[in-house]
Amino acid sequence: MISPKQLSIWHPFTQEALDPQPIHIERGEGVYLYARDGRRLLDAISSWWVNLHGHAHPQIAEAIAEQVRKLEHVVFAGFTHDAAEELAWRLRRILPQPLEHLFFSDDGSTAVEVALKMALQYWHNLGQQRKSRFVALEHAYHGDTAGAMSVGADSDFVTAFQELRFPVLRAPSAHCFRCPVGKQRATCNIDCTEPLARLLEERHDEIAAVIVEPLLQGAGGMIVHPVEFLQRIRKLCTQYGVLLIADEVLTGFGRCGRMFACELAGVVPDLMCLSKGLTGGFLPLAATACTAAVHETFCGPDRSRTFFHGHSYTANPLGCAAAIASLKIFDSEPVFERIAAIEKIHREQAPALARHPAVADVRTIGTVMAVELRADDPGYFSELRPALYDFYLSKGVLLRPLGNVVYILPPYVITAEQLQYVYDVIGESLDRVPRLAAQRS
Ligand SMILES: Cc1ncc(COP(=O)(O)O)c(C=O)c1O
Repeated sequence: MISPKQLSIWHPFTQEALDPQPIHIERGEGVYLYARDGRRLLDAISSWWVNLHGHAHPQIAEAIAEQVRKLEHVVFAGFTHDAAEELAWRLRRILPQPLEHLFFSDDGSTAVEVALKMALQYWHNLGQQRKSRFVALEHAYHGDTAGAMSVGADSDFVTAFQELRFPVLRAPSAHCFRCPVGKQRATCNIDCTEPLARLLEERHDEIAAVIVEPLLQGAGGMIVHPVEFLQRIRKLCTQYGVLLIADEVLTGFGRCGRMFACELAGVVPDLMCLSKGLTGGFLPLAATACTAAVHETFCGPDRSRTFFHGHSYTANPLGCAAAIASLKIFDSEPVFERIAAIEKIHREQAPALARHPAVADVRTIGTVMAVELRADDPGYFSELRPALYDFYLSKGVLLRPLGNVVYILPPYVITAEQLQYVYDVIGESLDRVPRLAAQRS
């Protein structure tokens, strides 16, 4: 057997000098991953938030197999194919109506890059070149490519890449647990949007777009926003003539309880980024949706209006076939009933967790539940993280805490018993937090 060291594979977000060897997974089925060493792991994070209907779902597997026998790929400039057309048709049926046009790319980061470039060129094509700056939220995460890193928050992830990041205007996030303006949610008037309101009032003529992760900031610590926060941002963008980009890469396809998080707030953005769950977690594919108003500025006899962006695998037919199959499962299986059942369990479990002395805050939205633990060293590099991670694996559960924030983000096919097991394991870990912390120091 070849050891991973001999293979020289460089794994993402992994410190080889400190982290254990990667676990070799041979197959997946439903919520479970089966390792070569005989272990069975319950995937409680949907393999980095991509899986919706369970691993190796036969319908998606079959759709990919069928497509690959027909057409594996074709250049997407000057050519099109059935899978892209059917997927576009299906997405248009579920996207908020004004989002009519779809630009395909490869993953969450490229969906964000596309949205940023589209927003910039939209104003350029309108002759308003001065509108070239972006506003992003504190705690934001939009991916690891240069533009996505720029709109992402200042964090340890991006320290080494400062020179690559373009300057971005920042606005507070509605992080109610650490309210940026010192208010209480029960009595506040979403006062945390005041700095954004001032920024837009003063500088809207130089701002192209505001980019947000609607209602749930994922990698920044599973921060859940009140719907009023997103609603206020939408209003402000409209009032000041600034585009709103909703990065639904994580929140899309049911994670927050509705097909898209924006729906929960009754908000329609000007651009929307989709990826992760788009293919049910089978293949990398992304789409950036925009309104007709945005799209039409790119059309005309002047070639310089063209959106000069594309990737070799744009609209890859296999990815499109997987996405179509995943969307069909929303029709053929009780997906939203499963989502509602997960949501209900999260709501039932939250109060007891919140009372635990090791817990600082509990946040839930849709199928996502996050527990922020008290820690002497809060943040992504908290020593609790590796201790908790190892503990969960030892119990057969894949949970990847974001520092001292433990979260559950399961495939929708998880059963009540399986989810209860994850809660039991988290409960056990909370009782051991002091010992886990000591173990690492
Ligand atoms: C909200 C959001 N946007 C963009 C991305 C980047 O996606 P990818 O890792 O597919 O490039 C992520 C990844 O976690 C994300 O959570």
